[in-house]
Amino acid sequence: MISLQFFTSNLNPSIHASSLSIFTSGQLCNRKTLKPHLKNRTHYGNAVQSVLQWNRKPELAGETPRVVVITSGKGGVGKTTTTANVGLSLARLGFSVVAIDADVGLRNLDLLLGLENRVNYTAVEVLNGDCRLDQALVRDKRWSNFELLCISKPRSKLTLGFGGKALIWVVDALKGRQEGSPDFIIIDCPAGIDAGFITAITPANEAVLVTTPDITSLRDADRVTGLLECDGIKDIKMMVNRVRTDLIRGEDMMSVLDVQEMLGLPLLGVIPDDSEVIRSTNRGYPLVLNKEPTLAGLAFEQAAWRLVEQDSMTAVMFEEEPKKRGFFSFFGG
Ligand SMILES: Nc1ncnc2c1ncn2[C@@H]1O[C@H](COP(=O)(O)OP(=O)(O)O)[C@@H](O)[C@H]1O
Ligand SMILES: [Mg+2]
Repeated sequence: MISLQFFTSNLNPSIHASSLSIFTSGQLCNRKTLKPHLKNRTHYGNAVQSVLQWNRKPELAGETPRVVVITSGKGGVGKTTTTANVGLSLARLGFSVVAIDADVGLRNLDLLLGLENRVNYTAVEVLNGDCRLDQALVRDKRWSNFELLCISKPRSKLTLGFGGKALIWVVDALKGRQEGSPDFIIIDCPAGIDAGFITAITPANEAVLVTTPDITSLRDADRVTGLLECDGIKDIKMMVNRVRTDLIRGEDMMSVLDVQEMLGLPLLGVIPDDSEVIRSTNRGYPLVLNKEPTLAGLAFEQAAWRLVEQDSMTAVMFEEEPKKRGFFSFFGG
C-alpha cells in the first residue's frame, strides 16, 4: 500500500508526530475529546494518533509585519476561507493580525468572519480623507487582536487610482499606527491575474498559494507562481485545499505529492474537503473558533503555526501496511 507522509523542515523537539494530544481551541484536547466528533468518519479512524502536539507558543520568524498575500489564480478554491481561518488562528496564537479584503468586486471576507454589519468605512474612504484609518478597521469581538479592513464597499468598482501604491500606503499606515505595527497583515487576493491581483500582491513580501488538486486550479497556480516571482515575491508556500483521500485512493484525484511535484513549492498545509467548512462559512463563524475540533480546523491551525515559524512540509511517498492507512498521514503523522 502506497501512502503519503509529510515531514516538516524545521525539526522541532516539541512536536511529537505520534502523540495523542493536540493543542486546539485554546485548550489541550485528547483522543476522548475528539472521538465523538470523529465517530462517524470511519476513514479518519487512525486520525487522532497522528495529530501533532504543539503545546507551546510558536516563535515568530522573519521581520514584522509579515505581509502575506493569499492568492490562487482560480476562484472558489478557498482563498477567503484560508484568510479567515489562518488569520484567526494567528490571533489565537497571540499575534496581532490585520486581514485586508482586497477582493473588491466580490468582497466576502466580512461575511465569512460574521463582521459584515460592522463595516462602516473602507480603505477607499480613508484614502479620500473621509475617515481615519482606525474607523475603517473592524476589531473582532472574539479576538481583539484581529482586525478586518475592507478596501471598498461591496459591488463598487475599484476607484481609479486605488492600485498597488494605494495599498502600500495602507500597509505603511498600519505599520506606523500609534499602538504599534501588527505582526501579520494578511491580504485576501481576488481571483484572476488582472489589476485587482496586481494591487493585492504589490505590498506583500510573501505569498500563500491556495490550490485544489485539480488540473485547472494547478495550471492557474503555476501561472500565478511565475507572476509572483516576477514581482519579487520569492517566499511562496502552497496550501492544498479540499483534499479527499477516498478519491485519491481510487486514483480519481491527484495526490498532494503529485501537486507538490507539479508546482515545486514548499507545502504550508493540506486541508481536507470538510462539510464543516461550508457550515461555518454560512454561519459567519470561522471553523477554527469551533469548540468541537474539526479536521479542517485543525489543519488550518497547523498551517498557521507553520506560517509563524516559516516552516513547511515535504510530502514523501512510502510503502506501508494496509491497516496503517489513515487520513492523518496527511498531517505529519
Ligand atoms: N476545505 C473545504 N471543504 C469544503 N468546502 C470548502 C473548503 N474550502 C473552501 N470551501 C468552500 O468553497 C467555497 C469557496 O471558498 P472561498 O474561500 O470563498 O474561495 P475563494 O476565496 O478562493 O474564491 C466556499 O463555499 C467554501 O465554504
Ligand atoms: Mg474569495
